[in-house]
Amino acid sequence: MAQQFEDKFCRKFSYLRLSVTDVCNFKCSYCLPNGYRPDGIKSRFLSLSEIERVVRVFADCGTSKVRITGGEPSMRKDFVDIIHSVAAIPRISKVATTTNGYRMEKQVEQWRNAGLTDINVSLDSLEPRMFRLITGENKFRQVMNGIEKAFEVGFAKVKVNVVLMKEHNAKELPLFLEWIKTRPIQLRFIELMQTGDMDEFFNKQHVSGASILNHLIANGWILENRSQNDGPAQVYSHPDYRGEIGLIMPYSKDFCSSCNRLRVSALGKLHMCLFGDYGVELRDLLQSDEQRDALVKRIRAQLNNKSVSHFLQDGHTGMTPHLASIGG
Ligand code: 5AD
Ligand code: SF4
Repeated sequence: MAQQFEDKFCRKFSYLRLSVTDVCNFKCSYCLPNGYRPDGIKSRFLSLSEIERVVRVFADCGTSKVRITGGEPSMRKDFVDIIHSVAAIPRISKVATTTNGYRMEKQVEQWRNAGLTDINVSLDSLEPRMFRLITGENKFRQVMNGIEKAFEVGFAKVKVNVVLMKEHNAKELPLFLEWIKTRPIQLRFIELMQTGDMDEFFNKQHVSGASILNHLIANGWILENRSQNDGPAQVYSHPDYRGEIGLIMPYSKDFCSSCNRLRVSALGKLHMCLFGDYGVELRDLLQSDEQRDALVKRIRAQLNNKSVSHFLQDGHTGMTPHLASIGG
C-alpha cells in the first residue's frame, strides 16, 4: 500500500464519499425544494471505469470504506454495476450508500448481492402526510417497505437519517424513539445545515443538536465509544432499546477534528470538505491506468489545503448550493 492520505492536521482519510449523480426524484424542502433542475449543459456523470480508477487510487492510499451518494444514487441505471465494481476493489471492506429509499423495496436485494454492506435511508417523518410535505412525494409506504425489505434480505442493521425541523417534524422525536425500541435501526439526527440556496428556511427551521442531546440524556441514553471508520456521529444507546441514536451536529465545537473523509463529486472533482470553496478536477487523470501516479500526486497536493474547520458556525457556507450537488 502507498502511504496513507493524511493532512497537515494529522487527520487520516480512510473514508471516501463518492457521488455518482446529482439527479434526485425527491424535493426535500431543505435540499431541492423545487426538484432537480438539470443545468442546461447535459451533465455527464463519472463512468463506471472512471469510478473504478478513482476508487482504486483511494484504496491504494488507505481508504477502506466508500459511500456511494448522489443526488439519489439509485437513479443511475448502472447502480448495481457500480456497487459491484467498488466492492471488488482490494482493501475496500465497506461499501455503503445513502438513498431516499424510493427504489429500495424493488432493488435492495440486488444491491446486497452486488456487495453493498451498509445502507442509510433518509426518512424525515413517520407520518405519511408529513413525509409528503417534506419530500414532495407520496412515497412513505414505499420507503417503509424498503426498510423492511432490507432486513429481509440480510442487512443486520439499517441507518435512518432524520433532519428535524422546528415547524415540521420536530414533534415526532418521541415517535421516532418509540419506533426503534424493537428495531435494530440506528436513527441519525442530522442537524439542519445552512447551504447557499436557503436563508430564511434555516432560521425558521433549525433545531439545535444540543436540544436533541438534552432530551436523550434526560431519558437515559448513554454515549458509546467510536471506532475508526465511523462518520462524525456521536452514537447513543439505551438498555431498553434495540436501536441506537446517532447525533450529527455540524455546528458543535470540534466537529471537524475527527474528520476522516474526502469527497469526489459526480463530475469528478475532489472536495476537501462539504463546505469547501472549490473542487479540484480529477477527471482528466481518470482516463487511463497510466495516469495513476499523477492522480495520487494531485490528491496529495490538495490534502495540504484541507482546512481545519468548515467555519459554518460563522455563517460560512462555501460554494455548496444544496447537498444534492455534492452528496450530503
Ligand atoms: N442539512 C442537513 N442534512 C441534509 N441532508 C441534505 N441536505 C441537508 C441539509 N441542508 C441530508 C439528508 C440525507 C443526507 C443525504 O443528507 O437528510 O439523509
Ligand atoms: Fe433528494 Fe436526498 Fe436532496 Fe432529498 S435530501 S432532495 S432525497 S438528494
